[in-house]
Amino acid sequence: MANPALTEHWSKLELDSSSHVLVPLCGKSLDMHWLAQQGHPVSGIEFVEKAVDEFFEEWLKVPIHSSVKSAKKFTAESITLYQADFFKVQPDDAPFSAWYDRAALVALPPSLRSQYVEQLRKFTTVRAKGLMVTFDYPKEEMQGPPFALSDADVEHLFSPYFEIERVQFTDLTEEEDRGLSRCSLSVFILTRR
Ligand SMILES: C[S@@+](CC[C@H](N)C(=O)[O-])C[C@H]1O[C@@H](n2cnc3c(N)ncnc32)[C@H](O)[C@@H]1O
Repeated sequence: MANPALTEHWSKLELDSSSHVLVPLCGKSLDMHWLAQQGHPVSGIEFVEKAVDEFFEEWLKVPIHSSVKSAKKFTAESITLYQADFFKVQPDDAPFSAWYDRAALVALPPSLRSQYVEQLRKFTTVRAKGLMVTFDYPKEEMQGPPFALSDADVEHLFSPYFEIERVQFTDLTEEEDRGLSRCSLSVFILTRR
């Protein structure tokens, strides 16, 4: 099943179905199938070989395999996975006009955040749109992942290069079971300037 934040908010990006969607740190997420079903060509980047293999095995597809700079590339129908380090790969189908970040930026330690945003800028077109799902909680109460991303962090990282619009804020404090005094999920639409 696709992530509810994706299915609820994706149409707000107002993309053509031909828009090519980048999924950084994709794992073997089923969200890529949902995006492909909307008509989008989809390119994911994931460095764990097992996750890439299992994505195609579970889909019952044998992908076409090729090599590009710093990556192995696997394609079936409209989905391509680059088995590569997001910080080193040069996808040959970039630049992308859209991206989807669920559990990508928040999976990275804070020291890699600026580099992540820099890569996103490198891989996307001007006016590209992204949907990003984040978590926030008091940083001193838990070591990530997921790493807490405050509103100030989002502003600091993205505002120089992206317009930022929040489309969801959900207080998860009652539901979470890690003893956090505050926990929330936010969904943002980002537009590259
Ligand atoms: C928390 S998982 C999220 C996966 C997926 N986005 C989802 O929603 O299920 C984070 C993924 O990022 C991958 N990853 C972490 N650092 C990476 C990097 N530098 N390059 C590529 N993949 C990376 C991990 O192997 C893991 O599969």
